[in-house]
Amino acid sequence: ARITYVSPEGAEDTVDAQEGSTVMQTALNNNIRGIVGECGGNALCATCHVYVDEAQFDGLPPIADFEEEMLDVTSSPRKDNSRLSCQISVTAAIDGLIVRLPETQE
Ligand code: FES
Repeated sequence: ARITYVSPEGAEDTVDAQEGSTVMQTALNNNIRGIVGECGGNALCATCHVYVDEAQFDGLPPIADFEEEMLDVTSSPRKDNSRLSCQISVTAAIDGLIVRLPETQE
């Protein structure tokens, strides 16, 4: 699946993501700046916060309760299209996903 990461400045990076991985891990593997993933993908740090393209947001699997709680403590403001990228699994269904990176994760 292809995923496009858009920096706060608008720079786009499109990479190939392996199924079974996550949008967070794929960013780290490809040295995408702006995703930290401090907790290793356990929904405990909120440093993998992303804004999902609005048109694609509803197509993603729903937000679990524990993700919901962490989304309330992100460094950059939470928006309607906020997700934790470690909780978005890479599947064929997300091919073409566009995520925007927040200003800061710290
Ligand atoms: Fe820590 Fe996603 S990597 S919450």
